[in-house]
Amino acid sequence: MALLNRIGVFTSGGDAPGMNACVRAVVRTALANDLEVVGIRRGYAGMIDGDYVEMDGQSVSNIVQKGGTVLKSARSARFREPEWRAKAAEQLRESHIDALVAIGGDGTFQGAAAFHDEHGLPAVGCPGTIDNDLFGTDETIGYDTALNTALENIDRIRDTADAHDRLFLVEVMGRDAGFIALNCAIGGGAEMVLIPETFTEMGEIKDRVLSLMSAQTRSSIVVVAEGDEHGGAIRIEQAMRSDPAFGQIDLRVCVLGHTQRGGSPTARDRVLASRLGAAAVEALLAGHTNVMVGVSENEIKLTPMRNVWSRKKNINYELLKLTQLLS
Ligand code: F6P
Repeated sequence: MALLNRIGVFTSGGDAPGMNACVRAVVRTALANDLEVVGIRRGYAGMIDGDYVEMDGQSVSNIVQKGGTVLKSARSARFREPEWRAKAAEQLRESHIDALVAIGGDGTFQGAAAFHDEHGLPAVGCPGTIDNDLFGTDETIGYDTALNTALENIDRIRDTADAHDRLFLVEVMGRDAGFIALNCAIGGGAEMVLIPETFTEMGEIKDRVLSLMSAQTRSSIVVVAEGDEHGGAIRIEQAMRSDPAFGQIDLRVCVLGHTQRGGSPTARDRVLASRLGAAAVEALLAGHTNVMVGVSENEIKLTPMRNVWSRKKNINYELLKLTQLLS
């Protein structure tokens, strides 16, 4: 590999709490190894447009505790086209950037792998997404914070649900994965959880909810993953409201949405992000490329970028059984 002098770092796709802690670790580890660092703003969009900023140690002061991303983020449609990737390569060459650290989710890594194939620039990925859906790491940066945010909101909803003996359908994020839903269902004592990894007939959902609500003079909470096959909590609500059997049920929906993406990262996310940011720079220095750094069983692990999205990270089916047992 060519000598490494100057690296670019960027955040891309949906922001995740802890991305700033990761940027800080990348910058400070690079500087400690006598590398120059350039922050690429707005992900691939900024890479194409040459929206670059020099990063020194001071530039990442006081961000470890902040949600969002100081480098900003974007989902770039242009970067899916080879001609725009060529434009990005030209901009990076002009700025003498000779390697990249990409912080993001599967879309970010698909972009990075295509870019690597076409233009050969060394790149290492750090898993940053609240969805926790990346193979090669036990947890992604932002997942723990999002999970705790969802849980805190479920606790609040439980209070009002209980006061009115209501049924609440609470929708959480996660795209096509049920990690947030499953874990906050257990933590929040939900009566039922619906996730994309398992199929549940609408009839079965309704029967279960009706039996819960008739057997108990108390509230019930059903956690629904946004990617569930029934199309989320609002669709399920519609199916229930159009069924006369639900006439007596006091039903409400709460979609937690982007509240799960914001806020100060948990200690766990800050530590994970710091470890991964440092590991990404060390991986580049050791000559690795086209890999994602992850933490598995508390050890840093490198996974070929392509495996990250082409292999499926499974949910823990034991936890699903546990939700059923404990509800
Ligand atoms: O991938 C992170 C995520 O928050 C998903 O959970 C969600 O489906 C999606 O991004 C929302 O994306 P956007 O912010 O572009 O609406």
